[in-house]
Amino acid sequence: MVFKNSIDLYKKALNLIPGGVNSPVRAFKSVNREAPIFVKKGQGARIYDEDDNEYIDYICSWGPLILGHNHPKVIEEVKKIIENGSSYGLPTKYEVDLAELIVEIVPSIEKVRLTTSGTEATMSAVRLARAYTGRNKILKFEGCYHGHSDALLVKSGSGLLTDGYQDSNGITDGVLKDTLTLGFGDLEKVENLLRNEEVACVIVEPIPANMGLIETHKEFLQGLRRITEETKTVLIFDEVISGFRLALGGAQEFFGITPDLTTLGKIIGGGYPVGAFGGKREIMDLVAPVGRVYHAGTLSGNPIASKAGFATISYLKENPSIYKELAENTNYLVDNVEKLAEKYGVDVCVNSMGSLFTIFFVDLEKVENLEDSLKANTENFSIYFNTMLDNGIVVPPSQFEAHFLSIAHTKKELDRTLEVMEMAFKKIGEKNAK
Ligand SMILES: Cc1ncc(COP(=O)(O)O)c(C=O)c1O
Repeated sequence: MVFKNSIDLYKKALNLIPGGVNSPVRAFKSVNREAPIFVKKGQGARIYDEDDNEYIDYICSWGPLILGHNHPKVIEEVKKIIENGSSYGLPTKYEVDLAELIVEIVPSIEKVRLTTSGTEATMSAVRLARAYTGRNKILKFEGCYHGHSDALLVKSGSGLLTDGYQDSNGITDGVLKDTLTLGFGDLEKVENLLRNEEVACVIVEPIPANMGLIETHKEFLQGLRRITEETKTVLIFDEVISGFRLALGGAQEFFGITPDLTTLGKIIGGGYPVGAFGGKREIMDLVAPVGRVYHAGTLSGNPIASKAGFATISYLKENPSIYKELAENTNYLVDNVEKLAEKYGVDVCVNSMGSLFTIFFVDLEKVENLEDSLKANTENFSIYFNTMLDNGIVVPPSQFEAHFLSIAHTKKELDRTLEVMEMAFKKIGEKNAK
């Protein structure tokens, strides 16, 4: 495969944009690549780069594209309104339609406010929890990523972890002091902490997908719900990834647990920029202009994003068998990956839930938290990533992210993926044997 145009673009971008990219993980730094690929277009399960290479895509824009690239139903709806105008800074019908659908489907949400990104949604939810409880401290879990607002960039996952650190510079001591962190899954420590400190909220990815995917134990989330109720702490489920992906009603429907606040993003914008936070009416009515917790945005609830999100969610709602099919396809890949690993003597632990999975190159029965995931062999991951890319399959350029499936990934794509995975596992096995 030739990557000339992407390499040239990257060289140019390096002089113009820090690191040549607008989100760090896109630089392909941790997988020792000369340059990332620059994408020209996407269709179904496939993307095409500026050198006209074709790839089967397991990034799916990091989650939003559960229907695949350019799904006709979404495009059709977007086309209907895109010529009317782009943004008005005034209310539109499309925001109300999307809000109505979210409230109808997500069990805990009685009222919802739309934002432009997941970062804004989690930042605002934390502010709201502080105002509601009158407390300052918050609790998050090591390796969970909730966007890049100051308070949540402590012991964080995703791009930071990929580049080998967990806390950002430029955050004040005061903010750091107010963000408490614990290992994911350690209920005893959560109980101890919440009984001894005044904490405004516990924010959690109900299925963490930013330290690689973790298979959450339901008992942990049940425990969080019980302790937060007893200590009058706000429980925030960050469902930016899991919302409308793990199940139509997200992780809260899947596990049958009702948080106080929920943050959403990705799928609810159908590939366009959007986010949301919502929850109990009593809490949400503290948001301006009803209350005095300020949240605003020039592009909040953008009509095109709202329409694309509405079309995507409506399609999911009308075709509920999608979730079963996605899980079956994921299991098909996962089962075969485990067989390949055994055949070539490669240590792996594959975690999967719904349409997400991570292949941890590690000699552990299960990866349960950040401490475990950091034991992974990133050199083996790099061989895996590069073999896949050089043979037309894009997987996340980081050991600490999840593969995303869409409904456009058919048996044909899955079988081609397994063929290339076999090449990768063979290479890793041969390297290990040396
Ligand atoms: C769980 C979670 N929360 C929040 C965010 C931030 O969303 P955004 O990138 O739209 O700001 C992300 C982004 O990947 C995420 O995975």
